[in-house]
Amino acid sequence: MFLGVNVDHVATVREARREVEPDPLIAALLAVRGGADGITLHLREDRRHIQDSDLIKIRSKISIELNLEMAATHEMVNIALKIRPDMVTLVPEKRAELTTEGGLDLIKGRKKIKKAIDMIQGSGTPVSLFINPAVSDILISKDMGAQMVEIHTGLYANARGGQKTAELDRVKKAIKKGLDLGLQVNAGHGLNFTNVKKIAAIKGLRGLYIGHSIIANSIYMGIENAVREMKQLIEISSSK
Ligand code: PXP
Repeated sequence: MFLGVNVDHVATVREARREVEPDPLIAALLAVRGGADGITLHLREDRRHIQDSDLIKIRSKISIELNLEMAATHEMVNIALKIRPDMVTLVPEKRAELTTEGGLDLIKGRKKIKKAIDMIQGSGTPVSLFINPAVSDILISKDMGAQMVEIHTGLYANARGGQKTAELDRVKKAIKKGLDLGLQVNAGHGLNFTNVKKIAAIKGLRGLYIGHSIIANSIYMGIENAVREMKQLIEISSSK
């Protein structure tokens, strides 16, 4: 199973002091050594962590899949068309949020999202929609022509007790529907070294996109080891 490593929070530490270190490019290169299959960067409109210069540098130095996470805005679509990442994941963005809080609102945002999909996929770059684990959102994603979806696992990650089983069930149903419709289906958000196991065990998933927990644990064990451990955990869980 594919593991995309999000290195945004390396830039969060750097931006806390407006310093030059730590460098997300070095983190990305070490993540590759640890077995990452892809690198994700979220270029937020407020540039709170990843900067345009990080994207340019990493695009030119990394040969594994580069996934650009971005809002479906005019500015970001133009950047994607210029930089040409290997894939784009469209996410909702709110300025005050600490992190992406949920999947895209495919009904309210339909026009903007559809335009972004058409322009980016028209240029040859596949688009993934970050969506809530709902069958209705899978149907809309397919209808809009996206090649891929990423199912939001944050609610599952945060759920407690019986709610956890219910959330896992919603994730599984959404994945199955996506696969039945011929979409490539990924999952991500809020996954860590414990809760990743049940998600990685879901059959048919193309990959997982993980950031915070890998970067947090790399403070203790180094990013190369943190990626390697996560990759092993995913492999063991997905082969059961
Ligand atoms: N997938 C998407 C679409 C995201 O927005 C994020 C967070 O940037 C992630 C995955 C990774 O989430 P986390 O940092 O919680 O692992």
